[in-house]
Amino acid sequence: MKKIVVFASGSGSNAENIINYFNNSKIASVSKVYCNKKNAGIFDRCKKLNKDCVLFDKEQLFSSEKFLNQLKEEADFIVLAGFLLKIPSKLIEVFPNKIINIHPALLPKYGGKGMYGMHVHNTVKENKETETGITIHFVNENYDEGAIIFQAKTKVENSDSAKDIAQKIHNLEYAHFPKVIASVIAE
Ligand code: GAR
Repeated sequence: MKKIVVFASGSGSNAENIINYFNNSKIASVSKVYCNKKNAGIFDRCKKLNKDCVLFDKEQLFSSEKFLNQLKEEADFIVLAGFLLKIPSKLIEVFPNKIINIHPALLPKYGGKGMYGMHVHNTVKENKETETGITIHFVNENYDEGAIIFQAKTKVENSDSAKDIAQKIHNLEYAHFPKVIASVIAE
């Protein structure tokens, strides 16, 4: 049984979906969730799901040997589900091709620093894109530039607001992210 650690920064709806999916899996389960934002929605979700959610900070992520050693014990794979801090190279070295991120756009479009959540959907709307989508990729040293594992598209209608686009993206994320994680783990 492989262990998945989830990193999240916000509402945590993807994290919840992943936890539920792997509750019924024979290959992996979510061992723990880490969040870098006090009061983020993910804490309540984890409470309901009876899953450990631990607050951590940038300092721990970048400089703590103790934290790194703990992660080695807790994780075979790390999944970033709406996690907004950069991942340090040291962590990437310890978990090569074992850190998976989801980005709410069709990379390489609308990626990079500052491009997250509603910022992405607002820009897609402003640019009058006719389609957008999700990208699931391995994490490397640069924001949103690691090898792409999977993409899925959705149409953007003229009448769609940025919020409508966000909903379409979330639906794609819920449908695909857990399955793609499972397929990487099963390889
Ligand atoms: C998701 O749409 C995810 O793709 C995005 O944040 C949202 C988190 O929602 N991630 C990024 O923008 C990373 N650059 P959630 O907290 O409800 O899962």
